[in-house]
Amino acid sequence: MVSPSALLAGAAPHFLAPQPQPASAEQRELCDGLLDRPAHIDPKFLYDALGSSLFTAITLLPEYYPTRCEAEIFERHGADIARRIGPVQSLIDLGAGDCVKAERLFSSLRPRHYVPIDISADYLQAAVRRLRLSYPELRITAIGQDFSQTLALPPEVAPEGRLFFYPGSSIGNLNPDQARAMLQRIRRQCQGGGLLVGVDRIKPSEVLEPAYDDALHLTAAFNLNLLRHVNDMLGADFNVDDWRHVALFNSEQSRIEMHLQALRPVTVRWPAGERRFAAGERIHTENSYKFTPQAFTGLLQSAGYHNIEHWSDSRGWFSVFSARA
Ligand code: AVI
Repeated sequence: MVSPSALLAGAAPHFLAPQPQPASAEQRELCDGLLDRPAHIDPKFLYDALGSSLFTAITLLPEYYPTRCEAEIFERHGADIARRIGPVQSLIDLGAGDCVKAERLFSSLRPRHYVPIDISADYLQAAVRRLRLSYPELRITAIGQDFSQTLALPPEVAPEGRLFFYPGSSIGNLNPDQARAMLQRIRRQCQGGGLLVGVDRIKPSEVLEPAYDDALHLTAAFNLNLLRHVNDMLGADFNVDDWRHVALFNSEQSRIEMHLQALRPVTVRWPAGERRFAAGERIHTENSYKFTPQAFTGLLQSAGYHNIEHWSDSRGWFSVFSARA
């Protein structure tokens, strides 16, 4: 239990560890996905410590435009965005990762309390330690949580003046029903507050596909690392050399899909089961939905948001939306 004094401004960051999920719940989820036809693994399992570091490296690639586009939007329109949003008590950063994106907003939004949430608790702790040195006055409550199912904030996060920050187009990693449910979950947690969310836009596949299949093969490593994570979590015996990374734009569904494709016939075993894959068979590992501004406005409205505004980068490749809950 953390003493109340540890929550005062200037005190050490407060870490809330992930709720110990019954190990078997995640294992069951993985087994079910592997035994399904076609097989699938939830993209949240991409983010073990190595996966999180690989994703950070991906954001530096010339082909991976979303991070730079979003940064350009905050650089060019940050003051306008802050004016629209008004005073912020708590900045709640969903999928905070290295916390760098939120950090760029500190000077314009001036939150009193920063609440980063990430499934990768170790990675988050390291990021928050760094942040503490640069912002000794900022109150920080870091939460290791898989917010894809439930979104629970501790009582020390004041209910008034909450701004949820969901950057990087992570909302696109959810299917439309999951995305609506997530937006509704956020809205229930910030009545009277707001949401700032980054959204990737539809564009030619010549731009989209290299962003998810780069020349340095970092995205391939990110995707293949998922198999090592599954081996760790499930006691499975995936051999990374048996698989290749596939990324393609599905224009009908308006999404990039990532898959792992078996290079040869493979049988994967784990303590509670096994799965045979034919050569060429795929495991679906991630979707990354792309939107028009109209479609995303409609999604926000259907989740109950109002006062919706958006800003775009100079090429119109990415948008940042603000909405009142
Ligand atoms: C985290 N998320 C928004 C990334 C995306 O673009 O969908 C994950 C990613 N997958 C491959 N490259 C990046």
